[in-house]
Amino acid sequence: MPASSLDQLVSLCKRRGFIFPGSDIYGGLANTWDYGPLGVELKNRLKRHWWDTFVRRRENMWGLDASILMNRKVWEASGHVTSFADPLVECKSCHQRFRGDHLLEEKIGAEAAAVLTIDQLQPMLIAEKIPCPACGKLQWVEAKKFNMMFKTHQGVIEEEGSLVYLRPETAQGIFVNFKNVLNTMRPRLPFGIAQIGKAFRNEITPGNFTFRTREFEQMEIEYFCEENGWEKAFTLWQDLIWQWYIDLGIAKERLRVREHSQDELSHYSRRTIDIEYKFPWGWGELFGLAYRTDFDLQQHQKFSGEELLFTDPDDPKKKFIPHVIEPSFGCDRTVLTLLLEAYTEDMVADATRTVLRLPQILAPIDVAVLPLSKKENLIAKAKELYKKIVQETNLTVDFDVTGSIGKRYRRQDEIGTPQCITVDFGTLGEDATQGGKDTVTMRDRDSLKQKRLPINQTIEALSFRA
Ligand code: GAP
Repeated sequence: MPASSLDQLVSLCKRRGFIFPGSDIYGGLANTWDYGPLGVELKNRLKRHWWDTFVRRRENMWGLDASILMNRKVWEASGHVTSFADPLVECKSCHQRFRGDHLLEEKIGAEAAAVLTIDQLQPMLIAEKIPCPACGKLQWVEAKKFNMMFKTHQGVIEEEGSLVYLRPETAQGIFVNFKNVLNTMRPRLPFGIAQIGKAFRNEITPGNFTFRTREFEQMEIEYFCEENGWEKAFTLWQDLIWQWYIDLGIAKERLRVREHSQDELSHYSRRTIDIEYKFPWGWGELFGLAYRTDFDLQQHQKFSGEELLFTDPDDPKKKFIPHVIEPSFGCDRTVLTLLLEAYTEDMVADATRTVLRLPQILAPIDVAVLPLSKKENLIAKAKELYKKIVQETNLTVDFDVTGSIGKRYRRQDEIGTPQCITVDFGTLGEDATQGGKDTVTMRDRDSLKQKRLPINQTIEALSFRA
């Protein structure tokens, strides 16, 4: 079973160096989180795996790393300046502000709440008798739209002309580089451009750990195709992504596809589905797949004055603006989901064991080398093995001498290390009851099975990231 409460996971993440509260020594900054030594390793592995799967190992996929700060006309063209807004309601009594649709979700359901118009929100909150979560009064001011883009100024003068936005989605970096990629890589349709990077949204109600934050990372693909190929491309990506999550070990019963209703669609989308995960607080969006038509390229062509046409290499007279399917992954939400899914408690020798059953491809540490005790000759022998694994493989290896061997196994289980190797007095030839000379014990995290093998066969017995 995965973690049943978020608190269990938040506590483990802090205690074991996965995710810390942001600006902790200054009392924190609400809803900001810092990835610690193990968290950054897990996140980097996830990003690398995503990149390998969807960019490096696929034909006709190209990578990009665009700037976070972009000409603000980009956001005028994309429609974000006018349309990227959430419904904000304010309590007349205590002046706290909330996302109106979120307040209604429990009463009327998320789908019904998402399609309410801005004018319907305040009357609906009153009719459903939903009080202010902060002060308990039922006194709502009329709802208004709140644009979620973060603003800043470029250069030394803070005036209207220097205003820039922190990108709210990585996608636009791809659209504005469409022509550059066409000219340099000469791709044929269908082809995709992918990027991983930070996005910023001034969310009205962030929360649920890293689920909804104001600064987060996205892994996005814009997959360009001919207009009449969009349905095929949509299905292709839906299947690929569903399988990707399953292969990472997420249980099918905690995943579902949710189709957006026509009223709920973003301003750029003709069809959107979300893949949702059953989080401890309920179903929530993990990933979004949208058919953005040719909206973005048309808009950028219009606003920039640059021609953004694709020329068919087999028929140079055929020039057109391609349509696009967009698979958009939340990197932090995927990390959170993987941690929730991997978190397990089982009973071992009458004691509760916490174990992160992460797939090895993501586990921050591949293997731990553990000398049975702190005796100098034992440590020296184990260190030799540790160095050999580090030098001869690409595995991440931990070396731990502190505490009883049982405690060290538990510590490695808790951070998801798939395999441990113990060097003991048998290895040194000093105690035949522990094992033969020059042999070590290898222990598997999930089955807890141990096997004894010659030390010089350790590397070939280890499992490697696929
Ligand atoms: N380019 C399309 C786009 O940005 P989106 O559904 O708004 O679509 C895509 O975002 C993904 O980004 C979501 O499925 C989610 O995983 C992640 N995401 C969005 N807002 C987030 C937030 N405030 N905190 C963490 N992740 C977020």
